[in-house]
Amino acid sequence: MIHIVVGARPNQMKAAPLLRALREHPDFEPILVDTGQHYDHEMAGVFMQQFGMGEPDYSLEVGSGTHGAQTAKILEKYESLLLRKRPAATIVIGDINSTVACALAASKIGIPVIHLEAGLRSKDRGMPEELNRIVTDHLSDLLWTPSPDGDENLLQSGIEESKIVRVGNIMIDTLVAMKPEVEKSLFTKNIPFQNNKFAMVTLHRPSNVDVEVTLTKLLDELLIVSKTMDIIWPLHPRTKSRIESLGRMNELLDNAAIHLMGPLGYIDFMNGIMHSACVITDSGGIQEETTWLGVPCITLRPNTERPITITEGTNILATPETLQSELQRIQKRVDTGHKTIEYWDGKTAQRCVKSLELFLKR
Ligand code: UD1
Repeated sequence: MIHIVVGARPNQMKAAPLLRALREHPDFEPILVDTGQHYDHEMAGVFMQQFGMGEPDYSLEVGSGTHGAQTAKILEKYESLLLRKRPAATIVIGDINSTVACALAASKIGIPVIHLEAGLRSKDRGMPEELNRIVTDHLSDLLWTPSPDGDENLLQSGIEESKIVRVGNIMIDTLVAMKPEVEKSLFTKNIPFQNNKFAMVTLHRPSNVDVEVTLTKLLDELLIVSKTMDIIWPLHPRTKSRIESLGRMNELLDNAAIHLMGPLGYIDFMNGIMHSACVITDSGGIQEETTWLGVPCITLRPNTERPITITEGTNILATPETLQSELQRIQKRVDTGHKTIEYWDGKTAQRCVKSLELFLKR
């Protein structure tokens, strides 16, 4: 019996391929544990549905809270689940509060912890996710990395080489599997565009949306972008409430070239990404998906835990101040198109299962 823990939106596309691969294996009984860090259907349930994951075996229903409160609630509730029925191992994913809380609960009672998407580092301790990555990696018994920089970071932080296995990028498994559905979606066909190209925008990082002057500047810059390029912007709940508090929602709603909407399901969202002239984001995973699809990506952050998307992909970092110049620059770029990165091939879940078999035998 193996636990796979999911908590927030970016976990779902990473859990789905592994869950499927473990379900197909006669020796494993995968148990899906949903901490409920994200609780709205459009932030969680829709993904489980679209990926055919089925209902979670356990829902901890922790909901929102401060970092401390949310992490503590997950720790307490997950520990009590583990004490009732012990799995052979717990797989935690990514860098969210659920990842670190469940890793801690399991490791304290001697259940092996496996970290999927280990080794990523932005080297920015101001990011809550960076702290979650550091702690989770140090608690883990087996670390599955997506790229060579992940291996390097772990070795440099003193983690034994024998615990590190490069399995590749699991999110690309989902993209490969879902691509036919994504291509069939009519999402972008039904949008009344004002210009002949559009950018997909996603923003939710506290550093961009919780700081009033930064969000104000970003909104001003996006209004300039909308004069030459439509914008499709599925709003994260955090961002929606910050724009409302600034009193600027109507200005966006009144602009015919800005298409605001709630969070999208995977299929429509990826259809938008696939057809966009570029993506403007502060997400982690979207940097990778755009690289694989060959779509230019401007990441509004001072750093990235995914440097391979810059060195081998289509990603560039920008600030609100450099957004317009970077947009002009990428429109002149010729090196777009699908990027091939080792182990970003749709077969990561298979490599995870092999590694898990070996690990448990040992
Ligand atoms: C979390 C993760 C982040 C990930 C992001 C993707 C951590 C520390 N952060 O950030 O790594 O990139 O998810 O979305 O774990 N809310 C809703 N409905 C929901 C979920 C949240 O309305 O289903 C609201 C919350 O009440 C809160 C806000 O959205 O006010 C932000 O949620 P929060 O859990 O703080 O984290 P995210 O910003 O989503």
